[in-house]
Amino acid sequence: MGQFVLIEKFTTINDFDSDQGEFLSLVYEIMQVRKRGENPVAYIHTYGCQQNVADGERIKGMLSMAGFIFEDKPDNADFILFNTCAVREHAEDRVFGNVGALKNLKRKHPDTLIALCGCMMEQKHIADRMYKSFPYVGLVFGTHAMHKFPELLYKSLTSGKRVYLRDNDDSLIHEGIPIKRDGSIKGWLPIMYGCNNFCTYCIVPYVRGRERSREKNIILKEAREMIEAGYKDITLLGQNVNSYGKNLKDGVSFAELIKEIDDIDGDYWLRFMTSHPKDCTHELIDTIAQSKHISKHLHLPFQSGSDRVLKQMNRHYDRAKYLDIVNYAKDKISDVSLTSDVIVGFPGETYEDFKQTLSLIKEVEFTSLFTFIYSPRVGTPAAKMDDPISAAEKSKWFRELLDVQEEIASKRCASMVGTTQKVLLESEKGKDSIINARTSGNIIVETKAPAELIGTFQNVSVTEAGNWILKGELKNG
Ligand code: SAH
Ligand code: SF4
Ligand code: F3S
Repeated sequence: MGQFVLIEKFTTINDFDSDQGEFLSLVYEIMQVRKRGENPVAYIHTYGCQQNVADGERIKGMLSMAGFIFEDKPDNADFILFNTCAVREHAEDRVFGNVGALKNLKRKHPDTLIALCGCMMEQKHIADRMYKSFPYVGLVFGTHAMHKFPELLYKSLTSGKRVYLRDNDDSLIHEGIPIKRDGSIKGWLPIMYGCNNFCTYCIVPYVRGRERSREKNIILKEAREMIEAGYKDITLLGQNVNSYGKNLKDGVSFAELIKEIDDIDGDYWLRFMTSHPKDCTHELIDTIAQSKHISKHLHLPFQSGSDRVLKQMNRHYDRAKYLDIVNYAKDKISDVSLTSDVIVGFPGETYEDFKQTLSLIKEVEFTSLFTFIYSPRVGTPAAKMDDPISAAEKSKWFRELLDVQEEIASKRCASMVGTTQKVLLESEKGKDSIINARTSGNIIVETKAPAELIGTFQNVSVTEAGNWILKGELKNG
């Protein structure tokens, strides 16, 4: 596992076209001969967080330039890629299972190239294990080697050998990689990569490298392009967006960045994730409160309500600081919607600690929570801590937490019945002209509407509430 070294300077290089673009043309030629169907087909499966989704969209951008089309099943694919996540054991197990299941497909279609990338591949012990266990996997590369994907793909297709690259140079930011976004209404915009926080349970800093911010002008350009292309809900991504800009020469802060994006004209919502409570300032809350486009939604992971556990987690804030931000946000942003991540069963957590988590949940009244049972990650400090509580006991606590949160969420939903909400119509639910829409606070509202309105903002009156979602009627005019 890597040592923690703080790198002060990061270099942005814009070498994609001259360097890797050439390999894409070569891959295009090869695939015209090698394809099984009319077009070369790729199946890309991304696990994990939006950062991985954003990487997957860049990989798809590169593959599109090489003539690939995409299918959502692997059966006809000439190229199969699993873009993996290492954050919890469950995520890793799914990848092992799904790659194992490709054995027959590869036997039937030996020319299909199977590849693995993403966060799991930056852990040497895992990447080695997969490379050995699955001899039919022809290409393995880590998150830091993504910009070299065209070259790696070319080598895999031409060398007759298996290709394996874990590249730990995380001091460069590679710009200019083409993007094929999955959606046309909601879009992801990475503003920084990596993480310096080293929360003791978390693998991300080891697999994503040191925190580095993209240059402001590049982000502004991408935001403008997305708005012009009709994106209505744009989420800025980073593991700790509040520390955006710390390595940049112009010293721009996150609050300044979002102010500048907010100034871009257009009809859109702006979101961001993830905010780390240790760096979340009143200035940021004020910026949200005064903005035109920033949604009234703050995703602010607290992880635990116990100061003792927060210290063990190396989170650098306590319960009081967390509640201070939350109360300030509630005060300044009317009807703010708060969401969070929480871990149950951190090593050494007692039932008393867990009760602190429950009481914090009750005090804040989150709209929704992403809830996780602690999963030990090899190489992290927490994996070496004593963990006396049984898995069965942790599951019991976990269910208790889910019950508490369900009651809070359903009360919050019920309190919205009778109100009018501005929503973005996102997708068809299925039959009966029901459209899934979303409020600024990130709550789903099902409403009957013509499909032509998908991608537009509308007002709905909320008529019914479930535990997590609302139902409403479109208001005319
Ligand atoms: N950078 C973000 C979170 C990224 S990981 C932040 O700091 O909030 C997403 C979530 O996964 C974390 O917030 C945490 O709740 C959870 N998580 C991370 N490592 C975990 C582990 N080892 N076991 C269980 N949950 C974990
Ligand atoms: Fe992991 Fe903590 Fe970094 Fe989030 S801030 S990615 S939880 S180390
Ligand atoms: Fe998983 Fe990597 Fe994201 S470990 S949560 S995909 S940064």
